This record gives sequence, C-alpha cells and structure tokens, in this order.
Amino acid sequence: MASDSRADLKTGTLTLDGKTYSFPIRWGTSGPPVMDVGKLYGTTRIFTYDPGFSSTASAESKITYIDGDNGVLLHRGYAIEDLVAHGDFLETCYLLFYGSLPTPAQKADFDNRVTRHTMVHEQMARLYHGIRRDAHPMAVMVGVVGALSAFYHDSIDISDPHQRMVASMRMIAKLPTIAAMAYKYSRGEPFVYPKNDLPYAANFLHMCFSVPFEEYRVNPVLARAMDQIFILHADNEQGASTSTVRLAGSSGANPFACIAAGIACLWGPAHGGAHEAVIKQLAQIETKKRVPEFVARAKDPEDSFRLMGFGHRVYKAYDPRAKLMRQICHDVLKETRADDPLLEIAEELERVALADEYFIEKRLYPNLDFYAGLTLRAMGFPPSLFTAVFALARTAGWIAHWMEMIADPHQKIGRPRQLYTGYARREYVPIGRRD
Ligand code: ACO
Repeated sequence: MASDSRADLKTGTLTLDGKTYSFPIRWGTSGPPVMDVGKLYGTTRIFTYDPGFSSTASAESKITYIDGDNGVLLHRGYAIEDLVAHGDFLETCYLLFYGSLPTPAQKADFDNRVTRHTMVHEQMARLYHGIRRDAHPMAVMVGVVGALSAFYHDSIDISDPHQRMVASMRMIAKLPTIAAMAYKYSRGEPFVYPKNDLPYAANFLHMCFSVPFEEYRVNPVLARAMDQIFILHADNEQGASTSTVRLAGSSGANPFACIAAGIACLWGPAHGGAHEAVIKQLAQIETKKRVPEFVARAKDPEDSFRLMGFGHRVYKAYDPRAKLMRQICHDVLKETRADDPLLEIAEELERVALADEYFIEKRLYPNLDFYAGLTLRAMGFPPSLFTAVFALARTAGWIAHWMEMIADPHQKIGRPRQLYTGYARREYVPIGRRD
C-alpha cells in the first residue's frame, strides 16, 4: 500500500526478556501489513493470545478484500456495487471460484453446468420425512447438506481437482433445492422440483412458492431482487463461518461436511442468525415511539441487550452491503405494495442510533442483516428461512475459500493453541476415598 507511511517496513521486532527477535512483515496488495509470527513459538517458546482473532490473519487469500474503515468490499478486485448493479449471482460464483469474470461462452457453460445439477437424489426426500415438521430450517440444512456426502461418493476425494469442482458445482446447484425443500416440508406442502428453464434465483422462488395445482409466474422484479440478495451474501472474507469451513477442511474432511460445518456456524445470532433476530427485535419494539427505550438498553453496560443488525468486527463505517440491501428493500416493498410497519421502526432505529454518541464512538452501523430480513419478509419468506437463504448464497464464498485452501501446497491442518488456566497435575483419588 503506497500510501501507508510504514511502506518500507520489512521486519518487526519483539523484545522478550531482554532479547530481541525479528519477524518478517508481509504486505498484501491492500490492507495493513502482517507480521508473520509462524516461528514465534519455535524461537521464543511464547504463544500469541488472540481468542476472537481480532489481530490475527488466519489465512492468505486472493478472493475478497474489505476496507472496513471506508466501507469497501471487493471480490477479486471488483466492487460489490458493480457486481450487484451489472452482474448476476452465477457470474459472482464464477468470479469467486476462478478469479476472473467469465466470457459469454464461459458464463453460458457455467450456468449450464449448475443447472444440470439442481435436482437432489430422490432418496434424499426421505431424509426430510425423518425430521419433525416444526424443525428449524437451519437444523434441516446442517443435516441434509452434511448428508450429501452419503449420496455423492464420487466427489469426495479432495486430492482430485475434478472431483473438487464436481462437488462444488453440486452444492451451488443443490443448495437452493435443499433450502426450498426445507421450507416446503415445514409447511406440509409437496416438494417442488427445479425448473431448469428458469434462471437460478427465479428457480429458487419457483421451488419455494409454487404449488402443483396453480400456475405460478415468477415476478421478474422479485427474481432480480433475489439474485441481488444472493450476490450481497456471496462472500465476506474470513468471517466466522468461512473460517469454520477452512478449519474443517484443513483436516482433509470432505467438502459437503465442511459446508455443513459452515452452515452450523452461520446459524448463530452473532452471525447469519441475526437476519431472523432483527425481525424479532423490530417486532418486540412494536412502535417507533419505543425506539429510544431500546437504544438506551443497548447502551446500558448492565444490560446484555444488543441492537441486532448493528455492528461488525471489520466494517467500522456503513456496511456497503447494508446500503445496497436498503435500496433493494425499498424496491421490493414498492413492487409488492406491502406496507410493513416494521420498516418504519427500522428506519427510526437507524436514525436514532446513527445520531447517538455511543454508536458514533463505537462505530456501530447497520450491517447486512439489518435490512435483509425486512426484504425477505416482503418477498414472502418466514423469518425462520432467512438464514437458510443466507447459507445458500454464502456457499459460493465458502467453496471458493475451501478450494483456495486445498489447492495451496503449503496448507496444513489448523491447530490453534491455548492459554491453559485449569488445574496443574493433581493426584488421582479413588472413588471410595473421596468426600
Ligand atoms: N448493540 C449495542 N452495542 C454493541 C453492538 C450492538 N449491536 N455491537 C457491538 N456493541 C458494543 C459492544 O458492547 C462493545 O462495547 P464495549 O467496548 O463497551 O464492551 C463494542 O461495541 C464492541 O463490540 P464487540 O462485541 O467487542 O465487537 P465484535 O467485533 O466482537 O462483535 C458483532 C461484532 C458480533 C457483529 C457485534 O457487533 C454484535 O453482536 N452485533 C449484533 C449481532 C449482529 O448484527 N450480527 C450480524 C453480524 S454481520 C453478519 O453476520 C452478516
């Protein structure tokens, strides 16, 4: 980074117990310099301690770059704003996987390959029937995606690049089918097969909302919004779920199991589960008038309450995805002519929080989740399905990171250490002699 005053920095030194040790400083194409402490323990017998990875680069990657201070998100160098305005989700998948935008022929071939894989093994339907109807769709997603490895044995040899690509295409193609089946199952409605003459996002809407006894025409405005929502969720650097996929994959686990691990991590309310939590919280606020009461709770150090959909580990300016999502939300509400009272509360919450000293000082802005739930709700999705929609889109990023990691010749198993604060060795007391 030419503008960084430390641009000449090549090594960093640490002085420990009077001795000075040097460590290489590595510079990426963008972002702050990184001190390579890989040999720290070997030379000093001291570990670093960074439990939430606040100061740790866990991987070297060429996929996604975030400038959190300026609200910038780039995939392979392309701004999220441009991808959302001009491209489609499968183009973003291609970009994340292969590193460049496809030519028309490459795009047609990629779309065709995805489309040919949209159906799931017929026997998978029986898996659903073993699950309670009121199960959370994310519980279904974790189980069914993990079970793909039981159905597609011919694509789990991770040492074979062809099998890796087949598994990747299968997941991009089948995740919408799996999520839609989870939705249909929860409603007690028949599963709807994919319709391969529909584009990817439109097909997902068709599988979620059509029923066998009525004609269903996909609304093109909603299909475009769905596609843009997928692009916005496709990747976000080394977030918790992506790091989970990388860690699971570092042991050589099969790709379906790794993506299931990512889905499990995404489910939590501090991550993708916030989509659902935002809507629940807006409903709990009930009316614009009560916004200050909830903002006060969020600021109270004695109260663990947080405003869902606010704050991010990396974005310390307005999340660029949230800005785009806000616009999509308005487009969808205009198209559906829905008058959602929660939107009014959300906008008031945003207005009050952004003017509040606490949120300004801590640099807490709305994140992607803040407007995503309102948008999905206006499209007809129930809150319990929001994170499943997130998961199907984020599968693109998870796979890209997994493939990058597996192809790296220096890749080794991820194995953090700890600061042990438990008992030192104790004498074993036989059960008969314990009080
Ligand atoms: N409401 C109120 N205060 C908050 C919020 C919030 N939403 N988020 C952070 N803070 C405060 C914390 O209390 C903390 O205050 P302190 O310094 O006085 O202790 C400070 O801001 C920093 O917060 P941390 O939790 O240390 O920040 P971290 O980077 O670990 O967490 C996270 C980021 C998990 C996203 C957090 O902001 C949060 O819980 N937000 C709400 C959940 C949410 O929206 N998650 C979606 C994330 S985006 C995504 O997955 C697409």
